[in-house]
Amino acid sequence: MRWLILAAFLGALAACAQTSRQMRAHTYPQSFDYITRDDVHDSMLQLALRVQRLDALLRAEPPTQDETRRSEAVSLLADMEARTQQLSRGGSISNHSEFSARLSHFASDLRAAREAVQSEPANYFLAGAVVGSCTYCHR
Ligand code: HEC
Repeated sequence: MRWLILAAFLGALAACAQTSRQMRAHTYPQSFDYITRDDVHDSMLQLALRVQRLDALLRAEPPTQDETRRSEAVSLLADMEARTQQLSRGGSISNHSEFSARLSHFASDLRAAREAVQSEPANYFLAGAVVGSCTYCHR
């Protein structure tokens, strides 16, 4: 499941225009204007890049030094959280209650994952599962 999603996103990065037609998110608000639509696409590509980096970081063999790994994971998650919050502040988007509800679920998963990585001892379980939260909006 996880790998299917990730593969779809990597495909999207390689062949963005074509793939985005195939992976229409089912919550796409119909009345988005074009500027907002561009913002969503840009943020999504940035999210996809970061989730992929996070995955590579957590799978690194041999594991990246503990503190390096921890601080990179924290900054990737914090960055994703900030982008998600920025998206939900976008004027017309906040009127679409279903979309913003899913965005805020996603943002809380990112926050929970970041807090788990920052706790003592660091716990990476939620960070590794973050890609699953993309399914709030993607099949
Ligand atoms: C709150 C809902 C939501 C969440 C959560 C979400 N997405 Fe999206 N995503 C969308 C919407 C809406 C689109 C635009 C779909 C369209 O245009 O048909 C999209 C499009 C995309 C695209 C295509 C972008 C493009 O420019 O073609 C990618 C890649 C993507 N998302 C990756 C992700 C990844 C990776 C995650 C999880 C880290 C994620 N999304 C989480 C709503 C979401």
